[in-house]
Amino acid sequence: MVCLGNICRSPMAEGILRKKAFDKGINIEIDSAGTGDYHVGEHPDKRAVETMAKCGIDISDLRARQFTVTDFDEFDEIYAMDDSNYKNILSLSRNELDESKVTMILNLTNKGENRSVPDPYFGGLDGFDKVYYMLDDACEVILQNN
Ligand code: 4NP
Repeated sequence: MVCLGNICRSPMAEGILRKKAFDKGINIEIDSAGTGDYHVGEHPDKRAVETMAKCGIDISDLRARQFTVTDFDEFDEIYAMDDSNYKNILSLSRNELDESKVTMILNLTNKGENRSVPDPYFGGLDGFDKVYYMLDDACEVILQNN
């Protein structure tokens, strides 16, 4: 799960997918990262933690890290939150296999539309609720596909 700062959207996506996989007894490796390095080492944004806590998911212990080229080797599927993240991830790809792993996450629920998960960082709590519902639907599709 990849966004820009790895403190709002992608840690929420990581937490949602972890919970769903655990509940369904599916054993998969899940992680998140940011294309930028501004928040490396930080815990998720308080508003993301609060929104997830309302839904019974604790992401307070996560720490931001930056996406690196080795993530193409570690993971089979890489989900970008928005078109800028998508382009930045692809700019690090080395071959067609790397490229084939990258998907705009909302294309799981809105095929071919290349919609972005709106960045909630500069808005209020309601933006985080919207992000939660979008990611919850998309993560459900990921587990149906696995
Ligand atoms: P994220 O949100 O990419 O969903 O973690 C952001 C976090 C921080 C900033 C931008 C977006 N920032 O500009 O610092």
